[in-house]
Amino acid sequence: MTPSPSHESPASDLDIDIDAIGEELPLLEGLRTARAIRRLKPDPVPRSLIRKVCEAGTFAPSGGNRQPWMFVAVDDAEKRRWIADRYRPVFQKYIGPAIERGERENFAPHLLRNMRASLYLAEHLHEAPVHLFIAGFTRRNEAQLQAIYPCAQNVLLACRAVGLGASFTTLHRAFGEECDRMIGLPENIPSAVLIPIGWPLGKHGRPPRASVDTKLFFNEFDASTVEKERPIG
Ligand SMILES: Cc1cc2nc3c(=O)[nH]c(=O)nc-3n(C[C@H](O)[C@H](O)[C@H](O)COP(=O)(O)O)c2cc1C
Repeated sequence: MTPSPSHESPASDLDIDIDAIGEELPLLEGLRTARAIRRLKPDPVPRSLIRKVCEAGTFAPSGGNRQPWMFVAVDDAEKRRWIADRYRPVFQKYIGPAIERGERENFAPHLLRNMRASLYLAEHLHEAPVHLFIAGFTRRNEAQLQAIYPCAQNVLLACRAVGLGASFTTLHRAFGEECDRMIGLPENIPSAVLIPIGWPLGKHGRPPRASVDTKLFFNEFDASTVEKERPIG
């Protein structure tokens, strides 16, 4: 019997059936309920489970099937502190004014919740037991984000399936070169995405999304049906 993928924090490979966990969740249900989980327990995550979610990443598409991705999973506490100490001030500076504006202008509650959750992550990043960096070989001196991002999405979906909390972040690029050197990545394999991973404090569930009926057109786009102003700039 597979252990319940939610609310438990199996610390080692011995407590968990790595082959079986996450295999039963239907694909579409999983992806509809893979909201960003930014409140994480500090409990350790077995490396074999990190291997499993990274393996899911390797099934992403990439131009010419070049598979440029590389993963660096940082579970060393000192290194995580180093990363968090740099991420926190940059994110606070970025999100602080946005939250103030959101409160002043009565942004929709889900937008404010999202901003506050990302601030929480920034303030607790050192506690996330795994900082998973997804990097990739450059091509013609350009990062191959078009391959790294689908790879990251596969990792997020795999985390959802096995019951791990995770979210997509890129803010570490503000100190990206320094960070890459710290984790041993050379210039031609820059990191693009940082996925903080851990056992969730809350639950997975459907994220707030506009109906597909406001986004889908057949044969011809109709601008008159699309909202004129975006909720946040
Ligand atoms: C390219 C990209 C960059 C992102 N960067 C960050 C980030 O630096 N920090 C963060 O907390 N979330 C980041 N996010 C996550 C988004 O904020 C998240 O997808 C959004 O809040 C929706 O969350 P939900 O699926 O729970 O509704 C990023 C997402 C994308 C696609």
